[in-house]
Amino acid sequence: MKGRLAIFAAVWCGMAFGSAVAGEKGSASGPSPSLPDDYSCKVCHWKDGELWNQETPTVSESELADDIHWQVGLRCHDCHGGAPSIEDYENHRTDESFHAIASPADIPGFCGRCHSKIEYMRRYTPSARTDQETEYWTSGHGQRLKESLEEKKVDKDVATCVDCHGRHGILAVNDPRSPVYPTHVGETCARCHSDEKRMAGRTYHGRPLGHDQYEQWQQSVHGQALLKKGDLSAPTCNDCHGNHGAVPPGIDSVANACGSCHAKQAELFSEARMKHRFEEIGLPGCVTCHGNHRIVQPTDEMLGMAKSAVCSRCHSPENEQYGAPLAGGEAAAAMRKAMEDLKQQIAEAQAKLAEADRLGMEVSGPRYDLRQAVDALTNARSLIHSFSLDRVQKALKEGLDVATNVNKRAEDALREHTYRRIWLAVSLVPILLVVTLLILYIRTLPIPEPTSPHEADR
Ligand code: HEC
Ligand code: HEC
Ligand code: HEC
Ligand code: HEC
Ligand code: HEC
Ligand code: HEC
Ligand code: HEC
Ligand code: HEC
Ligand code: HEC
Repeated sequence: MKGRLAIFAAVWCGMAFGSAVAGEKGSASGPSPSLPDDYSCKVCHWKDGELWNQETPTVSESELADDIHWQVGLRCHDCHGGAPSIEDYENHRTDESFHAIASPADIPGFCGRCHSKIEYMRRYTPSARTDQETEYWTSGHGQRLKESLEEKKVDKDVATCVDCHGRHGILAVNDPRSPVYPTHVGETCARCHSDEKRMAGRTYHGRPLGHDQYEQWQQSVHGQALLKKGDLSAPTCNDCHGNHGAVPPGIDSVANACGSCHAKQAELFSEARMKHRFEEIGLPGCVTCHGNHRIVQPTDEMLGMAKSAVCSRCHSPENEQYGAPLAGGEAAAAMRKAMEDLKQQIAEAQAKLAEADRLGMEVSGPRYDLRQAVDALTNARSLIHSFSLDRVQKALKEGLDVATNVNKRAEDALREHTYRRIWLAVSLVPILLVVTLLILYIRTLPIPEPTSPHEADR
């Protein structure tokens, strides 16, 4: 074997490894037992491999131990190519079976060599997806990379497979430690997207790309739900932007991603004339009113024609935008008014029920019924998205009827409590009278002479 290695030493131009050839290797600090000793890559790329010298980059077993590829039995040569046996080893530069990575633009193809092959991947997982590479080339990242390649100045700052998944030590995507696990995706994207330098001078649809998406998202209802409450159903970057493509599959634009989770609002909105008008003007649907990254908890303040309301941005006479009719503004104000009316009825009913409860009256029935009014209010907040005054008013009216009825029953309960007290007072009068008479009568009875104890003895 040593003889053969000497031949390799000659082949590998410019390398000095005399000492490595001569040295005896201790097995205690040896490389992974899972690689045979004559595994070519191990001979030169393990830190104390036989032919290792200071300039040869090293790979340690611990880097790869948790790698999903390592765990399904793939080894260095499966990814990199080259001969696994030192006997057959040929210089990287001349070995055609070696898959060199000369620039980031080679990486998608490097990974795609396996991941785009359906018959290969399905040997491991019957339902494996094999669209990552094709999707990737359609994404903003892929397109920029392709464009820069054509300009012969490869853009090293755009993401390729290894920027999101790692290179050695790639974890299964459902491993909670994976950089693409929902709770980590934000940080993974932020490594570049919050880096002002990397984003400088870049544009998106004609405006500066910005570098605050992660910060904004972190503060949103979605970011808070995911990071603080651990709610994995709340969206992080890839839920709206897609894992590999420009948008998630089945969605025509990022701005429409909301509907995949908020189906009710999306369905209502799809029937509104406003939606179609938005599309004609090129305004993104939900995002126009809610924003994209920093989506806050909506409040009733957003509705109506006050300055704080989103509707006034387009429907008021001062900034009548995109031909938004003033009638829409009137509808907005009417919706808000009906909502406030219901809220007031509910608040009154709640106060009265609480008072009745405090006084010990049984009010669980009306309290239960009041929930219907609260539900109607919640329902109306969603129904707004139909932008139909009739529908919103109808829902609120149902709630108002319930709340008015509960209000009445709460008043009845309070009234009954007052009656009971009066009755109690009234019924106390004859009782007191009888007691007084009894006392008076007892007083008229003769008091018997006390008998002495001595008399009793006799
Ligand atoms: C005879 C020693 C030797 C053997 C055996 C060897 N390598 Fe290398 N390898 C090197 C040296 C030296 C470099 C650095 C070369 C350079 O900078 O051009 C290198 C570089 C690399 C690189 C980086 C190349 C690049 O294009 O940037 C990869 C990847 C690599 N080796 C993988 C492997 C794999 C996989 C095997 C096993 C199939 C292997 N090597 C076997 C010596 C070896
Ligand atoms: C899942 C596929 C995969 C496996 C398995 C794998 N590598 Fe790599 N390796 C890569 C990729 C991708 C890169 C290049 C990353 C880049 O250029 O940013 C790389 C880079 C390297 C480099 C270049 C030097 C460096 O650190 O950048 C060497 C050397 C190397 N690998 C050796 C090995 C050895 C030895 C093994 C087996 C013990 C191995 N690799 C297993 C994918 C793999
Ligand atoms: C290695 C750095 C890097 C990482 C990691 C990264 N990006 Fe990017 N991304 C870029 C760069 C650079 C651009 C600008 C490309 C250009 O100039 O057109 C970009 C552009 C984008 C764009 C806008 C371009 C378009 O047309 O779609 C989106 C959206 C985007 N990235 C989302 C993400 C998401 C989501 C993640 C995480 C899952 C992510 N990026 C991870 C570097 C990165
Ligand atoms: C901008 C970041 C980013 C880039 C670039 C990227 N991925 Fe992914 N990848 C992800 C995310 C996020 C997931 C999904 C994780 C999840 O499902 O929770 C994922 C999932 C995967 C999966 C699991 C199966 C699937 O499709 O969901 C594979 C395999 C994969 N990626 C391979 C690749 C390959 C190969 C490339 C390069 C062609 C690549 N990825 C580029 C972020 C990225
Ligand atoms: C030699 C073929 C091969 C190459 C090259 C390869 N992979 Fe894989 N990859 C696999 C196989 C096989 C699996 C395991 C699939 C399984 O168990 O379902 C896998 C799994 C994965 C997973 C986990 C998928 C999941 O569902 O959790 C990710 C992520 C991944 N690879 C990314 C990459 C990236 C990034 C590269 C390029 C640096 C790459 N792979 C290169 C064959 C390969
Ligand atoms: C709830 C959905 C959603 C989430 C979550 C989300 N985005 Fe976006 N993002 C959008 C929408 C919508 C746009 C605007 C698209 C358009 O104008 O075409 C956008 C635009 C972008 C852009 C383009 C530049 C800009 O700011 O307009 C980048 C870059 C970007 N997002 C990155 C991210 C990153 C990184 C994350 C995670 C921290 C993230 N996004 C999370 C929906 C989302
Ligand atoms: C992957 C699913 C998903 C996507 C995509 C998504 N959301 Fe959400 N959204 C949620 C979840 C889950 C919550 C609940 C968070 C919580 O616990 O407060 C939420 C909360 C909200 C809230 C607060 C609702 C309330 O009653 O508190 C608004 C507003 C919202 N999302 C708007 C949007 C918009 C606009 C988009 C698109 C740009 C979008 N969402 C995309 C899942 C999603
Ligand atoms: C970005 C501008 C914009 C905002 C913000 C906006 N609207 Fe509109 N709205 C329009 C336009 C434009 C139309 C005209 C649609 C058509 O008939 O073509 C419209 C129409 C309407 C209509 C008539 C709808 C129909 O289908 O006949 C109602 C009602 C309405 N808006 C209510 C609201 C309410 C309520 C809000 C606030 C929650 C609001 N709008 C916010 C632009 C806007
Ligand atoms: C024209 C402005 C406008 C548009 C467009 C819009 N919303 Fe809303 N949205 C509102 C207003 C105003 C509220 C607050 C209602 C309240 O609390 O009184 C709201 C509340 C919400 C809520 C919380 C209340 C509920 O329904 O549970 C969610 C979730 C929501 N919107 C999602 C969406 C989604 C998803 C889209 C796109 C399909 C969308 N919105 C489009 C104005 C809008």
